[in-house]
Amino acid sequence: MTDLARDAYIDGRWVTGARFEVRDPFDDSVIAEVTDCTDADVDAAIAAAARAFVTWRAQPGPARGVLLRKLGERMLADEERLARLCVRENGKPMKEAVAEVRYAASFLAWFAGEAERTYGEIIPASDATKRILVTREPVGPCAVITPWNFPYAMLARKLGAALAAGCTVVAKPAAQTPLGTLAMAQLGAAVGIPAGVFNVVTGTRAGAIGARLIASSAIRKLSFTGSTGVGRDLATACAPDLKRVSLELGGNAPFVVLADADVDAAVEGALVAKFRNTGQSCVAANRFIVEQAVAEAFTSKLVAAVAKLTTGRGDSGVDIGPLIDDKASHKVAKLVADALSKGATLAHGTAPSGQPGPAHRLVAPVVLTGITPAMALWREEIFGPVVAIRVAADEADALAQANDTEYGLVGYVYTRDAARQARFADGLQTGMVGINDGLVSTAQAPFGGIKQSGYGREGSHHGVEDYTQLKYVAQKVG
Ligand code: SIN
Repeated sequence: MTDLARDAYIDGRWVTGARFEVRDPFDDSVIAEVTDCTDADVDAAIAAAARAFVTWRAQPGPARGVLLRKLGERMLADEERLARLCVRENGKPMKEAVAEVRYAASFLAWFAGEAERTYGEIIPASDATKRILVTREPVGPCAVITPWNFPYAMLARKLGAALAAGCTVVAKPAAQTPLGTLAMAQLGAAVGIPAGVFNVVTGTRAGAIGARLIASSAIRKLSFTGSTGVGRDLATACAPDLKRVSLELGGNAPFVVLADADVDAAVEGALVAKFRNTGQSCVAANRFIVEQAVAEAFTSKLVAAVAKLTTGRGDSGVDIGPLIDDKASHKVAKLVADALSKGATLAHGTAPSGQPGPAHRLVAPVVLTGITPAMALWREEIFGPVVAIRVAADEADALAQANDTEYGLVGYVYTRDAARQARFADGLQTGMVGINDGLVSTAQAPFGGIKQSGYGREGSHHGVEDYTQLKYVAQKVG
């Protein structure tokens, strides 16, 4: 299968209409013109998902799992093409695009297994004539709104869980990266996912499409990955109808290096935690907090490693691709300028210009030291290849600094000491903790945050449970 899908996918049909351009962030070249869905298209997708729900939920879990497994396998078989498409629409380096296709497929494989394991319970009753049965039912048709930073993986971990549970889906990809989602719909159709089970509405009117999905009482759950501001608005809009909501929102991850850490391992972890997807990840290390005794060693080794990173077009063997758009490069430049104006030191790189245009979206890595809480990047997600280092006096100071944020997605800590590891595992106010590990994301674990980073979990058996509701049945047997 090589045809590039450009139409929305609704009820098993490719739907055309007015178009919008999808551009390569590296050079602004037009990759494709994609259907800009109308309200009527969105309504048709909701109706299709509601119709298909009746038969999809009635399928045995293992049968649903077979289709998910096949979809994952088809993605892997088509890995090179899918990765190249991701490089074009997202800009990420090819090796990361390949890793993303595999990461996405791993969710489909995982949830294929979980489709067989949505167990209920039998609870011993105090009345001998009664049985207490608890089953897990699918919540219903779901709206899933996915971001541009991991277009395959963020869809796969929502879609896989929803379909495994017996829900149907209307997916709305980001306007910057709809092509990967449409490619997945194409593969889904090829492996036999029934019409209406997995619909894709594409478009530039993100707010209007989201509002239309939420306004429908047929949609029983919203899962969203994106910014905290938008997530809060979507959750508010879901409240009148009491829709279930899962939100994977912003992060402001601390990356703590304690005095006893293996500094080389910390540098290796930092490169992944910071530069994966050019720093455009919710789990990206945002604030490096380094205990005084190793601050100089860690900074100089990190600078040496960062100096080797190459920047350019994603398919040219580089480590760092362009930022997604001008808004992103402007924001990164503004945060760096703000930090420098408030006393930060440029330990490596040059301050990005923040000017519009593709040339300015290629931001070479920057390392800043002397960071203070007065600087905007201490509070805000940088979402770019900028390392911001602040020194901590001791362990207690490092933990206090790490928790000095309204966000709570992930925290990283490097230390060899088991007691310190335990204190940080307990003390970090985050949904996820990486101990001597710069990459916590995996299909088997519950991914998600606390505080302003949202709620709900994706991946693991918890990911499927988020798409189910409990039903208690009291059965009189005497
Ligand atoms: C994200 O940036 O939202 C998720 C990244 C991941 O799954 O590792």
